Amino acid sequence: MTSEVLIIGGGVIGLSIARELHKLGAKRITIVEKGVCGEESSWAAAGMLGPQAEADSGGSFFDMTLASRDLYPDFAAELEAETGIDVGLDRSGTFYFAFSDEDVRALRERYEWQKKAGFPVELLTADEARRAEPFASPSVREALFFRGDWQVDNRKLLAALRKYAEINGIQIIKNTTVERLIVEGNQVVGVEVANGEIRGEQTVLATGAWTSLIKVGVADMPFKVEPVRGQIIAFHTAKQFFKHVVYTRRGYIVPRSDGRLLVGSTTEFVGFEKTTTAAAADLLREIAGEIAPSIGALSISDNWSGLRPFAADGLPVLGSIAGIEGLTIATAHYRNGILLAPLTARIVADRLIGGGDHPAFTAFGPDRFRFAVGSMS
Ligand code: FAD
Ligand code: GLY
Repeated sequence: MTSEVLIIGGGVIGLSIARELHKLGAKRITIVEKGVCGEESSWAAAGMLGPQAEADSGGSFFDMTLASRDLYPDFAAELEAETGIDVGLDRSGTFYFAFSDEDVRALRERYEWQKKAGFPVELLTADEARRAEPFASPSVREALFFRGDWQVDNRKLLAALRKYAEINGIQIIKNTTVERLIVEGNQVVGVEVANGEIRGEQTVLATGAWTSLIKVGVADMPFKVEPVRGQIIAFHTAKQFFKHVVYTRRGYIVPRSDGRLLVGSTTEFVGFEKTTTAAAADLLREIAGEIAPSIGALSISDNWSGLRPFAADGLPVLGSIAGIEGLTIATAHYRNGILLAPLTARIVADRLIGGGDHPAFTAFGPDRFRFAVGSMS
């Protein structure tokens, strides 16, 4: 039977779109996943919901990250009611620490523009920062506190989204790689897999870092998505050293309620290579040690990597390609796919159900690369 909507890729983006479509009344939703849903980048992420802590300036992308962050309290509460899984939304806020002159300059810039634009941000002395986080290094010079920047346990979030799909009849076809889109005239009518075809009235590409490996059939995609490896190390401690997420210009730490402390991350253009390296572990340990010397001295309990989906300008790719009907792209969320999942899901599902186009489809549409230097066209 032809699906109403065929979603390719079962990461946080594909699973969230499937849920939102189901809530809007779509009946036959199918996810096609090359492995198992939720075991790629979305699993590897640190789960930070930090639009303000990460932003150098305002603009459409910043607005989108704020809007998605603001959807999280309802997203998390609804998922818990729907599935019984608490996704670990932690709203205790996020610090940003400065150590060097250059760090202090960058911190002050971030503070000034956000303060001027009316966003909640607090400038703290080193003593104030250490009172809030007693294990912080004595070398901290200044800090910002973003009370609206949070974290979520991304692995619990994926478990909840998978359970939603399971209990609501969303079909998941796993261990099945989509090789090509089937295009009849100018209409995408389904996908080609190793043992045949899967048909859909609408197709959504939520294939993360692998998006550009899929052949379209009639034309090249006007954009390219590349994998960018990010490695994380984790410490497991009986006592919780930190209460908040802490960013620096070099990395971050994310304390989890289960006693783990995550340290991230690298940014490596090494293709589809997911191995972890000793050099990255050393670098991440150094980042942890700068934030808190007592953490840098612990032994690593776990490490992993994931492939972030990156488009040439580092921004998401959302919407359709001119001249091709029945296809919606939702990819290239790069460093912010966990944060952007609720908003992406909402606007893609609205569009598919006929609710119209959100401005993000204009700002981040795939055709913006057609005339750009370095595009695929
Ligand atoms: P994925 O989770 O990679 O899912 C894509 C899915 O598509 C995969 O399951 C894949 O198997 C499937 N697929 C691909 N090709 C095919 C095909 N041809 N056929 C069938 N299935 C296919 N974001 C944040 O917001 N906050 C953070 O703190 C954060 N930290 C991060 C830390 C690290 C180390 C990394 C690596 C990423 C981090 N991110 C963070 C980024 C975030 O993980 C990504 O932006 C997000 O996971 C992208 O979601 P996705 O669903 O598009 O991709
Ligand atoms: N957003 C954190 C990371 O991508 O490492």
